[in-house]
Parts: sequence; C-alpha cells; structure tokens
Amino acid sequence: MARWHYQRALSEKPQGQVWLVRSEHGRTGYFKFVHEDQWPYAGPFIANEFITAALARRLGFPVAALEVADVAGPDGIWQHGIVSIAATSPEVLPWADAPPEVRRRPEAWLRNVERLCQLVVFDAWTVNVDRATDRNLILHRDHGDSRYDWYLIDHSLCLLGAPYKWASRDWRDPYWMNLWKYHHVPEGLLRLQSDWRALRPMVERIQQLSRSVVDEAIATAPAGSLPPDQARQTRNLLLYRQRHLERIIRLWLAHPGVKEYRPH
Ligand SMILES: Nc1ncnc2c1ncn2[C@@H]1O[C@H](COP(=O)(O)OP(=O)(O)OP(=O)(O)O)[C@@H](O)[C@H]1O
Ligand SMILES: [Mg+2]
Repeated sequence: MARWHYQRALSEKPQGQVWLVRSEHGRTGYFKFVHEDQWPYAGPFIANEFITAALARRLGFPVAALEVADVAGPDGIWQHGIVSIAATSPEVLPWADAPPEVRRRPEAWLRNVERLCQLVVFDAWTVNVDRATDRNLILHRDHGDSRYDWYLIDHSLCLLGAPYKWASRDWRDPYWMNLWKYHHVPEGLLRLQSDWRALRPMVERIQQLSRSVVDEAIATAPAGSLPPDQARQTRNLLLYRQRHLERIIRLWLAHPGVKEYRPH
C-alpha cells in the first residue's frame, strides 16, 4: 500500500472532507475522511465504497482503485480514510466538465458506451443517491486517443449510505422503488438508457448473481468498517432490491417526468 501525502484541501461537507493527495510514486489520489460527529451524514462510507466497487467490477463497470490510508494534514494530525486513485492519463475530467459535444453524443466519443448505458440499472440496485451531480463519472484519455475511457467514483452514499438517508423512510418503503425521486442519470445519457432492450441484459445479469457473490463483495469491506448488524442489513438490502429490480427499472422507464440531471 502506498504512502499518501497531503497536497491541498478540496472540499469540506457534512458527509466528509476530501483532500488532494499524491503517492510516493507520483500517483494522484482523492482522500476522503470524516470526523466522529459526521456519522449521521457519512455512515459506514468506507465499507459502502469498497462493497459497491466490488459489485461494479464484477458486472463489468470500471471503477477507481481504492486504498485505505492514513494521511497527515497540514496541522500534522493524522486522518484515517480512503483514497480514490485517479487514472494516469494526461486528460482526466468529471463528466460535468466534458465538452458539450461529448454529452450530446456520448456514443461517438466514449469507449464501452453500451456498459455505461446500463449504469442506471446498477445505480438502481445499489440505491445510489449521488450520481446526479455529474461529478461521479470520470472520463480519461491518453495522447492521440480520439475516444475517452470512463470509470465510476464516489459510492459513499450507496447501499446503507448514511443514517440520514433512511431518516424518514426505511429502505423497504415503496418510495425507494421510484428511482426518479432520488436519482437522476448524468446529463446526455438518458436517450441511450431509455430502452428495455438496452437495460434488460444488466437487469438479468444482476438477478443471476448468487448470494455468495454478494457475500464476497461485503467481505471486501476493510476490517472494522462495517459493524456486523450493518453487514447483515447491507446483504438484505441488496437481495431485496435484486428481487425487485425488474419492477424498479420498468417503473423508471415508464415514468414521464425528469430523470436526467440538468445543471442550473
Ligand atoms: N479516482 C478519481 N479520479 C478523478 N477524480 C476523482 C477521483 N476520485 C475523486 N475525484 C474527484 O474528487 C471529487 C470528490 O470526490 P468524491 O466525489 O468521492 O467526494 P464527495 O464527498 O462526493 O465530494 P464532492 O461532493 O466534491 O464530489 C470528485 O467530485 C472528483 O472530481
Ligand atoms: Mg462526489
């Protein structure tokens, strides 16, 4: 595991702080950590990140590499958290910063766009309430490449997320069957995702995953990051939504309202 060094603070929110960090080998990373009093907004975020990434990889969605790390801040105080490691390509940018023509015609600019079109199914299964800012999908490109590769980041609020996620409704509440109420797809992708024929293979792939695959993903949560009762709940949630996934997606396809992120 690499040693990571503080470069600068990027953001400070109730759900956690993010620092730009650099490894001894010159890699760029984004280090997220929380203080104890942030539990209601952060929950078991390290476990959520690892488990969701393991499931994504299993289904063929590229995700950022993750490492648990301790990093000393400018005040010399060590923080414990997780590093999301950036691609080494010279061009790395969030979907929100992609040129408008890329968002208008992703199929002309991206590799592996068929898989990206199925992302809504994965986000539905894992109750992702946080894809919609268009910052949690990253594009990258090497010199001389005309097309971008892509990968997913930031699954801290997937699965059990943080306690506030369920404050007014339990995860079995019918509200959570209505994906459009808490999830918007990245801008420009809806056109490619609004077709049962495009989504069905991923719905079936997830339905066919065995319980042991779910258990193996949960077992990737670093030691101490997920109390046993929450590991059980995470398992129940995933199996419950696996059973209801076709209905969730069919309801979403049939819904006529806004389903795509619109920057203001
Ligand atoms: N592996 C990565 N590659 C490129 N950029 C990344 C990567 N991981 C994180 N980032 C950048 O760092 C930002 C913060 O990371 P993350 O989304 O995990 O935290 P967050 O708490 O949701 O913060 P924010 O609300 O700023 O997105 C991302 O929006 C993205 O721009
Ligand atoms: Mg984010």
